[in-house]
Amino acid sequence: VKPVRLALLGCGTVGTEVVRLLHEQADDLTARIGAPLELAGIAVRRPGRERGDLPVDPALFTTDALGLIKRDDVDVVIEVVGGIEPARTWLVEALRAGKSVVTANKALLAEDGGTLHDAATEGEADLYYEAAVAGAIPLLRPLRESLHGDRVTAVTGIVNGTTNYILSSMFATGAGFNEALEEATELGYAEADPTADVEGFDAAAKAAILASLAFHTRVTAADVFREGMTGVTAGDMASAKEMGCTIKLLCIAQRREDSVSVRVHPAMIPLSHPLAGVGDAFNAVFVEAEAAGPLMFYGRGAGGRPTASAVLGDIVAAARHKLTGTRAPSESNYAELTVRPIGES
Ligand code: NDP
Ligand code: HSE
Repeated sequence: VKPVRLALLGCGTVGTEVVRLLHEQADDLTARIGAPLELAGIAVRRPGRERGDLPVDPALFTTDALGLIKRDDVDVVIEVVGGIEPARTWLVEALRAGKSVVTANKALLAEDGGTLHDAATEGEADLYYEAAVAGAIPLLRPLRESLHGDRVTAVTGIVNGTTNYILSSMFATGAGFNEALEEATELGYAEADPTADVEGFDAAAKAAILASLAFHTRVTAADVFREGMTGVTAGDMASAKEMGCTIKLLCIAQRREDSVSVRVHPAMIPLSHPLAGVGDAFNAVFVEAEAAGPLMFYGRGAGGRPTASAVLGDIVAAARHKLTGTRAPSESNYAELTVRPIGES
C-alpha cells in the first residue's frame, strides 16, 4: 500500500515527541489507517542541533521548509514551530495546494485563523488543530463535531499549563514566581518566549479559538480581555489561602443573545471549587450547552508528549481522509455575533 507522506515542520519539545510516537506506534498506526505513515522530511532552524537519540534518519533534516511543503510526494504538513511568520506563509501554501495541515500553533490560529480557513476552503484541504488548545485533552473535536447539534452557552476553565504550574507551586510550597517559571520551562510547558504564558497571551489565544468554535463565530486574540498573572504576589496567594481560596488564571467565554464576551484574568476561587484542585500543568475546561448541560474536560494541558498525542490523533484523521477522499468538518459557516468588550453587557 502507498504510504501517507508527512512533512514535519519543527522538531523541538513537541516535534521530537511526534517523531518518537510515529516510530513507537508505527505498526498500530498502519493497521488503524490502512497505510503506513512515512516522514518525507523535517524542517528545522538548526539541522545539526543535538536532539537526543531520535529514531530518524538525519538526512531527513532540512532548513528549506517551503521546499519540503511543495514536494509532490508530501500529503500532510505538520507544523510545530510556532509564531505568526513564516508559519502562516507555509500553511497557506500547503492548504492552497490541497495538502492537509495539522498544527499546534494557537498564536497563529487566534491572530489570523480566518486566512488559514479561507486557504483550506480554496484548496479543498483539511485543517486540524486539536493540540492548539489544552494539550492532550480532546476538547476541540467535541466542540467541532459532537456538540454541533446543541447550543453552547459558556466555556470556562484553566487553559495555560505554565501559569497553572506556577500558581499551584506558589499555593502549595510558597515557591517564588521565577523559580516555578524556570521549572515549567525545563519541563517543556512554557512557550519559546514565556511572556506569552505569564502575561496571558497564550490563554487569550486559546480562549479566542474556543469561543470561535463554541459559538460559531470569529473571535481573534485582539477581541479577548486579557490580564496576565505577573501581578499575583506571594502575599496575594497567602491572603487567598487564609480565606480558604486559591488563585487561578481563568478563561471565561460566554454567549449572550446576539453577542459573546471572552476574557482571561487571575481569579480567586474557593478551595471547594473543582478548578481549585487542578494542579501541575493540568488544564480543566467546563463547557455548558443548553441540551447537554455541563461537561468537564480535564488532563495534561502542556508538555511535549501529551501534546504529541493530540497531534498524532489529527495525523490519523488527516491520513484517513486522504485515503478515503473525504473532508474534515470545516468552520466556513460563521454566525454574525458581536464580540462585546467585558463590562459592556
Ligand atoms: P520549540 O521551541 O521547542 O520548537 C520549535 C521548533 O521549530 C524547533 O525545532 C526549531 O528548530 C523550529 N523552528 C523555529 N523557527 C524555525 C524556522 N524559521 N524554520 C524552521 N524551523 C524552525 O517549541 P514547542 O515544540 O514547545 O512548540 C511548538 C508549537 O507547539 C508552538 O506553536 C507552541 O505554541 C505549540 N504548543 C506547545 C506545547 C508545549 O507544551 N510545548 C503545547 C501545545 C502547543 P531548531 O530545533 O533547529 O531550533
Ligand atoms: N505554553 C503552553 C502552556 C503550552 O503552558 O499551556 C500548551 O499550549
